[in-house]
Amino acid sequence: RSFFEFIGRATVITLVVGAGGFYYVTQRERTPGPQLPFDPEKKTLVILGSGWGATSLLNTLDTTDYNVVIISPKNFFLFTPLLPSVAVGTLNPHSIIQPTRYVTRHKARQVSVVEAEATDVDPINKTVTFKDTSEIKGLVSSTTISYDYLVYAVGAEVQTFNIPGVRERACFMKELADAERFKSEFLDCVETAAFPGQDPKEIDRLLHIVVVGGGPTGVELSGELHDFLEDDLKSWYPELAGRIRITLVEALPSVLPMFSKQLIEYTESTFKESKIEILTKTMVKEVKEQSVVLQMPDKSIQEVPCGLVIWAAGNKGRKLTQDLMAKLPNDQTNRRGITVDDHLRVKGTDGSMFAIGDCTATSYAPTAQVASQQGAYLARMLHQLAKQDTLTQRLAQLEKVVPEDASAQDPETKKVLDEKQDIKRQLAKVKLRPFHYSHQGSLAYIGSEKAIADLPFSHGNFATGGVATYLFWRSAYLSTLFSLRNRTLVATDWLKVKLFGRLLFE
Ligand code: FAD
Ligand code: NAI
Repeated sequence: RSFFEFIGRATVITLVVGAGGFYYVTQRERTPGPQLPFDPEKKTLVILGSGWGATSLLNTLDTTDYNVVIISPKNFFLFTPLLPSVAVGTLNPHSIIQPTRYVTRHKARQVSVVEAEATDVDPINKTVTFKDTSEIKGLVSSTTISYDYLVYAVGAEVQTFNIPGVRERACFMKELADAERFKSEFLDCVETAAFPGQDPKEIDRLLHIVVVGGGPTGVELSGELHDFLEDDLKSWYPELAGRIRITLVEALPSVLPMFSKQLIEYTESTFKESKIEILTKTMVKEVKEQSVVLQMPDKSIQEVPCGLVIWAAGNKGRKLTQDLMAKLPNDQTNRRGITVDDHLRVKGTDGSMFAIGDCTATSYAPTAQVASQQGAYLARMLHQLAKQDTLTQRLAQLEKVVPEDASAQDPETKKVLDEKQDIKRQLAKVKLRPFHYSHQGSLAYIGSEKAIADLPFSHGNFATGGVATYLFWRSAYLSTLFSLRNRTLVATDWLKVKLFGRLLFE
């Protein structure tokens, strides 16, 4: 009896201590302490964007070094890897976003958060012009500010290749609003198919979902859609669920070209079992009101009726990025994006502008992993630069008081000369190391509670796929989420779906 009493008491104590600790951490996250105000002596650091690159930078940045201004049309960070889960109602949209102020309010010095879109960046006069693009505007809705350092992290936008009908009719899968639009339109297709007396051919059209792009976004969305169909729609719409078709269209010879061959085959066979049709070497040429026009591998043209088209065919640079590059014509000639040096400084500028993430053209893939490592690196670099700037400024001040060739006879002069020597020693120690990317592996969810992973292992690569990898995928993303709040919400959503199923409504 005493053994069970002991176990019981230990469990109760653990639960109480755990709950107390959890409560303490959540309250600390909710109620940050006071912050230092802006310091006119400090340089101004402007950050454009609130995505992976910018948020990772903010998380690591020592804000006591600068007066920081962050400008983005979205006042939140979006955890993109879980966006396809929001599209099918597995996760609540709020679970994967983090308000930018949630990060900045915890920094030592206040950070100015501006919800606006940068419309012009002038690398010569070092200014940024931005405007309020939201619906409600005040008397002032556009302004220009100066910067000492600028971090350009505006990401990329959807590439449509100017294919007719894409922008007007297809759903994208890049922003939170895209996932919500998809959710609503998909359910609308199903409800319309369920309308009494609907023609059978029309039902099949409405229930045919075409996903364009066999990159990770298209594959993950197809997998999530299949789960929704199997787990929930089959019992909600038993008469229709069997008629829902998912077709994944890819222009290249295979899906997921960035994964190893065996994982591509594993994905293709999993999709076959899941009845997701893959059309490779097939290119979408037009998106019409009720169909997609495909160029088949034999170059013939087919018009395929469908209810909904999801466009996940890659990204391109934003207009703001193209305009910025046009201002630096000698150094910015790469059509993929901004060229940076090995310290992420924008080539052609005087070293005061940095670019990170999807807006750049580097040897790395445009991924969250790269953008977040670049952001964290830049935060450390900016700390070193602040140190360097402060020391250089002090040296210049002392140089004015006591020039280098002054005699050290007078004790006051000697003191200054010693301080100058000390500053030079400290300056020599400030090392601005180049950026080095450390690849942690590639992961993707492919539906049916299976994921694939290509992980760097010693000098080779470890490729794995299946249910265990799916559990690894879940835990990897849960731990990558930036806050305890997001981790708790995502874990709770997964539990809710397990217990009650997905909740979708238009
Ligand atoms: P973003 O994160 O796109 O951030 C750009 C920011 O700039 C945004 O806040 C935007 O609002 C802001 N902005 C836009 N225009 C302006 C302007 N004019 N002025 C100021 N701010 C502006 N990568 C992975 O490594 N692993 C994954 O599992 C993964 N899954 C993904 C799933 C989906 C569905 C998608 C769409 C992408 C996924 N990615 C993944 C890729 C990853 O999201 C991007 O590589 C990453 O977001 C790039 O970070 P970024 O900071 O460059 O750009
Ligand atoms: P992507 O560029 O990787 O893939 C787009 C695909 O669409 C390409 O394979 C292309 O051949 C195809 N395509 C283009 N035009 C087409 C057309 N007209 N018809 C048919 N197919 C067409 O884009 P994606 O998947 O959005 O990924 C963007 C970036 O985000 C990539 O760097 C990717 O690695 C990263 N990402 C990573 C994820 C992960 O690691 N799990 C998940 C999602 C994105």
